[in-house]
Amino acid sequence: MEIRDLTPDDLDAVLDTRMRSFGPLPDDSVDAWRATALATMERGRYLGVFDGSRLAGAGRLTGFTQWWYGRPQPMAGVAGVVVNPEDRGRGVGRQLMRAILTRAADLGDAVSALYPATTPIYRSLGWEHAGAESILTLSPEALRAIRPTEPVKLRRMGPDDAAEVIAIVGRVHAANRASGPIGWDEAAWRRYLDNEADFLYLADDGFVGYSWEDGDISLDYLLAGSEATARALWSLVGTSSSVAGKVTAVLAPDDPVLWLLRERAKEEIKQTRWMFRVVDVVAAIARRGFPSVVTADAVITVDDPERPANTGTWRLEISGGSGTASAAEGEGPRLSVNGLSALYAGIPTSTLRVGGMLSGSEEFDEALDAAFAGTPYMIDYF
Ligand SMILES: CC(C)(COP(=O)(O)OP(=O)(O)OC[C@H]1O[C@@H](n2cnc3c(N)ncnc32)[C@H](O)[C@@H]1OP(=O)(O)O)[C@@H](O)C(=O)NCCC(=O)NCCS
Repeated sequence: MEIRDLTPDDLDAVLDTRMRSFGPLPDDSVDAWRATALATMERGRYLGVFDGSRLAGAGRLTGFTQWWYGRPQPMAGVAGVVVNPEDRGRGVGRQLMRAILTRAADLGDAVSALYPATTPIYRSLGWEHAGAESILTLSPEALRAIRPTEPVKLRRMGPDDAAEVIAIVGRVHAANRASGPIGWDEAAWRRYLDNEADFLYLADDGFVGYSWEDGDISLDYLLAGSEATARALWSLVGTSSSVAGKVTAVLAPDDPVLWLLRERAKEEIKQTRWMFRVVDVVAAIARRGFPSVVTADAVITVDDPERPANTGTWRLEISGGSGTASAAEGEGPRLSVNGLSALYAGIPTSTLRVGGMLSGSEEFDEALDAAFAGTPYMIDYF
């Protein structure tokens, strides 16, 4: 078996393996799939496993931006991991994921995330349960009752607004000190904003994007930097109440709309969980945001059999909203790389201890919990 970068000549074989793994793509999305796959290949982010000249498996690591405590950094989003049915159960998938991990490090992505269809393969290589994409079902009538407090200028938007949308996303995630959400590059935003099936409105400090699905509303994005804009955008969605039976929306767990609603009782939430991995300890700590009110000095010993450079004792110093990891002597509490990845994503040390990912002295537990606190979420599936 050989692992190499996929090229445009491999597209048909990848599509075939993909179809054998996830079922056929609808006819109207094949062109879009090919375009995205080509762009991913051009960036060195699509790998294939070959048995001679025959493709046995493939997987990509899209370059995203991910916010951690409000600070953006490059993230390798692993997706489209597929092995031909006849090649499964012989280690092809694991070999491929090892190569993807190495490629992420080579490309300078210090963290990685993925939505798993099955978890053991990823956990065995260091990705750990981290956050969720939460889809809530809301009542259009309840949204209509959110009254605007002041007039807000809204306009329809299109592909040329991509840069403005990216700027708003960055400002809102930074202001919210958000952990987990991802951002697309300008080309991807342009494609989304160019889709005729999506209804898109832009304000100075927010935007909404939704589409109709079987007579109901499916909301992709609603980000607002102020109460006035949140009210204006949500009530705009609510004006569909005469036609739409429900609104499904991907939301942060503490999205302000849940506090703007007059009535909030039983809630229907569907969650899709995602996993996360620290690829490079030093860069991942340096690029993460931390609460500026927390000052912490902790020593941890990390075990990462897949990335030996991460293995060892690290001194973590957190202050003024930033952190550093520097190689240290001796031994601190022991974390598997899964434990470190989960900690980075805000999973409390008590969970890591009972979950078998952290052992040894408890002296730094409270400091680590305070430094890495967060409820990681994503709005986008990939
Ligand atoms: C998941 C998939 C990529 C694994 O590829 P593979 O070559 O069979 O995997 P490997 O032989 O390297 O096995 C790696 C580990 O994953 C486990 N695994 C593989 N398929 C699994 C499945 N369907 N359910 C649970 N665990 C599975 C194996 O048991 C092995 O763990 P172990 O060594 O502890 O027993 C492959 O089965 C596939 O293409 N499935 C359909 C598409 C899919 O689900 N892709 C994942 C999208 S996130």
